[in-house]
Parts: sequence; C-alpha cells; structure tokens
Amino acid sequence: MKTVFVTGASRGIGKSIALKLGKDYRVVVGFTSSKDMADEVVEEIKKLGGESLAVQLNIADRNSVDEAFNLIEETYNHVDILVNNAGITKDNILPRMKDDDWNDVIQTNLTGNFYTSQRAIKKMIKNKWGRLIFISSVVGISGNKGQANYAASKAGLIGLSKSISKEVGSRNITSNVIAPGYIETDMTSFIDVENKENIIEQLSIKRIGTPEDIANMVSFLCEEESEYITGQVIPIDGGLTT
Ligand code: NAI
Repeated sequence: MKTVFVTGASRGIGKSIALKLGKDYRVVVGFTSSKDMADEVVEEIKKLGGESLAVQLNIADRNSVDEAFNLIEETYNHVDILVNNAGITKDNILPRMKDDDWNDVIQTNLTGNFYTSQRAIKKMIKNKWGRLIFISSVVGISGNKGQANYAASKAGLIGLSKSISKEVGSRNITSNVIAPGYIETDMTSFIDVENKENIIEQLSIKRIGTPEDIANMVSFLCEEESEYITGQVIPIDGGLTT
C-alpha cells in the first residue's frame, strides 16, 4: 500500500484530502498544534479500515520537517505521494504590508513546500515512482488585491512544481499544481453572506466550492492512470478564471 503525506490535514481542504485518500492509501496526517483534530482524522480513517498516523510539523522550519520525515520513514519507510496543502494568509494592501507578514507567508507557503518536497523526492527518485501535488490558488495565476504576499507565494509554487516535473519526470515522478478558487473552509469563513452572493455571481457553477471538490482531483492525480499528467496547473474554481 502506498503512503501519502498530507500537510495541514487536521481541517479544511487537507482533512478532506486525507479522508478521501484514506480508503486506498496509508495516510500521514500532518498538523501544527491541533493534535485532537488530527487524531480525529486518523480515527475516522481507521474506522473505515485504513491505516493512518498523525505527525506534528511546522513546514516553515527545516528541522521540524526533517524530524517529521524521520518519524514517517521509521514507521512507513518512505512517502510515495506528497500533498503540499498547508498554507497561511496575512493579507494587507502593499503600502501597509509589514516585512514579517511578507516573510511569514513566503516562508510557510513557498519555502516550506521546498523543504517538504526536497525531503520526499530523494526517496521517490530511489523508488522510481512518486507524486507531488501542490495546493496553490487561482490568485497565484491572477493576483489579488491585498494578497501580494500570498499570491507571490502561490505563484512561486507553480515555478517550483514545473521545475520539479522536468527534473524527475524520467523517474516516473509527476508534479502538479491544483489552483482552487473559493472553497468553503476556515480560511474563507470571514466572507459575509453579501460578499458570498457577489462571488457566486461571478462563477459559472453557482455555488462556492467544497473541500471535496479539491480532494477528488487530488485522488485522481494519485492514480496510475494519471501518470502522463505533469507540470500542469489545474484550476478548480467553478469557472471563475475562464
Ligand atoms: P485552513 O486554514 O483551514 O487550513 C490550512 C492548514 O495548514 C491548517 O491545518 C494549518 O494548521 C496548516 N498550516 C498552516 N501553517 C502551517 C505550518 N507552518 N506548518 C504546517 N502546517 C501549517 O485552510 P484551507 O482553506 O483548508 O487551505 C488549504 C490550502 O488550500 C492552503 O494552502 C490554502 O492556501 C489553499 N487554498 C484555499 C482556498 C480556499 O478558498 N479555502 C482557495 C485557494 C487555495
């Protein structure tokens, strides 16, 4: 059975991905501080007959990433599929953006995914098989007011993933980016009803996305049947960017 590591999997999109993949893969549930919530995800997977483990890590910290991978490799030997889902926002318009808000978002959303991907890919190269999936955002393609740091970090993931796809394609390792639009999670819970209606107005499919909409594509990209898809950016946004 293949092992999947999903970062930021105690809630939101990451949780949905972990639960979806829990039926077919061993799932490592990455979490930062909410151990209870991560344990619940692990229990849910186990109830369905799957195998799962919660592992604490801060992707922004190289040592923490190394410790997490050491533990995963001791338990399951290697990671076959890495879903780089964890991410943060610290929004402000550019003139008011603090250095810390810029640096934190870049360090977590971009550099953190460099750390996890570098660590996972070494064993994937040895095994001549692997899947890297980055959860970026449509704002990494289009930009967004008040999100220069976040959009830059998410755009950076596209360059990172495309480069990886070229480096390791010959070893049966694919690397792809999913770019979600508006998805109903804690990250978007600040959007009020009126703004939600305005957003839905812009969409071809007249609803906000669900974490399951993203999990379904992740699941497809993990399969053998998707081995010829690499270096791509796949928007899942109800038609927002068409
Ligand atoms: P969320 O805020 O519910 O989940 C983010 C997860 O990342 C949390 O579990 C958190 O603990 C984890 N995380 C944050 N910093 C971390 C760190 N330093 N180390 C390890 N884990 C860390 O948000 P949501 O909506 O589930 O987002 C998941 C991903 O999808 C994020 O990368 C986000 O940018 C992206 N996304 C979300 C959209 C939405 O509309 N909700 C739209 C486009 C992209």
